[in-house]
Amino acid sequence: MGVLPVEQRKVLTTRLEELRTKALENPEEFWDEHARALEWFRIWDKVLDDSQKPFYRWFVGGKINASYNALDRHVRTWRKNKVALVWEGEDGEVRKYTYRDLYVEVNRVAALLKNFGVKPGDRIALYLPMIPELPIFMLAAARIGAVHTVVFSGFSSDSLARRINDSRAKLLVTADGGFRRGKVVPLKEIADKALEQTFSVENVIVVKRAGVNVNMVEGRDFWFHTLMEGISRSAYVEPEKLDANHPLFILYTSGTTGAPKGIYHSTGGYLVWVYWTLKWAFNPNDEDVWWCTADIGWITGHSYVVYGPLMHGLTTVMYEGAPDYPAPDRTWSIIEKHGVTAFYTSPTAIRMFMRYGNHWVEMHDLSSLRILGSVGEPINPEAWEWYFKVVGKGKCPIIDTWWQTETGGFMIAPTAGIDLVPLKPGSCTLPLPGVDAEVLTEDGAVAPPNTQGYLVVRKPWPGMLLGVWGDPNRYIETYWSRLPGFYYPGDYAMRDEDGYFWVLGRADEVLKVAAHRIGTMELESALVSHPAVAEAAVVGKPDPIKGEVPVAFVVLREGFTPSVKLEEELMNLVSETIGPIAKPANIFFVRKLPKTRSGKIMRSVIRAIVKGEQNLGDVTTIEDPSAIEELKMIVGNSRSQ
Ligand code: PRX
Repeated sequence: MGVLPVEQRKVLTTRLEELRTKALENPEEFWDEHARALEWFRIWDKVLDDSQKPFYRWFVGGKINASYNALDRHVRTWRKNKVALVWEGEDGEVRKYTYRDLYVEVNRVAALLKNFGVKPGDRIALYLPMIPELPIFMLAAARIGAVHTVVFSGFSSDSLARRINDSRAKLLVTADGGFRRGKVVPLKEIADKALEQTFSVENVIVVKRAGVNVNMVEGRDFWFHTLMEGISRSAYVEPEKLDANHPLFILYTSGTTGAPKGIYHSTGGYLVWVYWTLKWAFNPNDEDVWWCTADIGWITGHSYVVYGPLMHGLTTVMYEGAPDYPAPDRTWSIIEKHGVTAFYTSPTAIRMFMRYGNHWVEMHDLSSLRILGSVGEPINPEAWEWYFKVVGKGKCPIIDTWWQTETGGFMIAPTAGIDLVPLKPGSCTLPLPGVDAEVLTEDGAVAPPNTQGYLVVRKPWPGMLLGVWGDPNRYIETYWSRLPGFYYPGDYAMRDEDGYFWVLGRADEVLKVAAHRIGTMELESALVSHPAVAEAAVVGKPDPIKGEVPVAFVVLREGFTPSVKLEEELMNLVSETIGPIAKPANIFFVRKLPKTRSGKIMRSVIRAIVKGEQNLGDVTTIEDPSAIEELKMIVGNSRSQ
């Protein structure tokens, strides 16, 4: 299913091959050349320092600043008056910022942060809705060398508190509230609850967005607009000349334990990676209006709403609300209204739009689109075809990008910016230059074609995480121990006879729910914190729209009985502990969980039952087979209801 004539494809494929070979065979030379696409205050002494494996460090000795590369270098050119950011509120309000406007605001906010005593290396937490102040604060933090940690505004007070405590953020920026489906999410109120459990935050800056009443603590909390009145529009803050390995941000993500991991990224290597991956995959140009629909609270938003598009001098679109509010054509109306040329979203969103029906898409003129993208979870061929035909009218390639919070940017994706290999619906195609990906069997051998195995990356790449904040052992254990010597992302994949990669889903206890990453252990620990719950097991159940959804099996303590009320209480508990996105689709009360004789919960058996599979795998070590019968019956009954 190529979208280029075969002749052209062949010629261009040679270019891809050349770049890939050069990047893998001579990475130091390759990256030495490529990193110069950005502006450095000082060139590195060493491209890659691998003396402390697996703590690889790129561009050692180099000095750089993210805000400078995103803004300053454009304001010196004709792009000064180009629109950098188009923001649309859920209520329809539109705000546009030129590169000059953003530069002015970022400098003012950087001055403000300095007034609060924020210094290079200090952490600041940003708990904001999708409003322009979010990227402005990120860039301002980056300008002065403060490390931002953005907390998705759908997370609960507990989740926020955990992230603040782990990063020891000294400043919190939030809003009075954010809009979602016309309702106000009371962010300041949630933040206040979080602050009861934190010790590091000295001040809170509150952006007025929803116009709701909030409690302001004298001496601690300040309105953003009032503070800004005191800062001149000509404020200039010299961008800090930061070490290439100075952390740009921490972003928490779910893993296989109850505690989220603080993934932290460098400044230099991360920026180089984001810059080149965006260029290779989507081939951006100055006429593009780029819209990545991800919330900035996730890595996709960091890399491809903020840093990537701005480094390229693009116009980036940011939308505040729900993609189908107030009507299922909201997304298409935004594309039409702003003339979006490149649109990047998740398979969950695509499946949802597909279900609403073609007429919502066809109501709008989408002829501005030239390229489409997909991210966050495997895209099923049916959704791919629909996206290609109905949204892209058969003329826009679909760039299915496989990557993770940890990788900083795309790893495996079609490369419209180099050449475009023929696309196959459901495959993210081939690794980008510099990515040495492979699929291995359990014992570390290369898996034969069309055989499921573990996806690994053999060599370091500039965008890789620096580590897990405050926990170097967890970094080594999680990513470098499963198959020693290889980076292990935690995904199953296979390669077909053409070498194309097909990512098949998570190989660990992490779910992808509507493209969001949720650890089953986090859910389980939330559930067992309820006094009625003795044990809990959470697994993923396939879902036609969200990809998968969590289902929970709960064993109650003596003296408690299952009830609708208790089910509601548990649902609310998950919502309060993690956030509404983590709510299980079902909570099943059971007498027992299937366990091995040594007491380990047999999750693979539970998963197989939930999926309705006949073959439950090896059940010979089970302690009590009646647990399986009970689960089968309960799950079976729920299906027939
Ligand atoms: O399982 C893979 C899946 O999302 C995981 C990473 O999640 P997160 O760190 O939240 O980042 C999401 C956005 C990059 C991966 O380990 N995943 C991501 N993209 C794809 C994917 N699975 C299949 N195809 C993709 N294109």
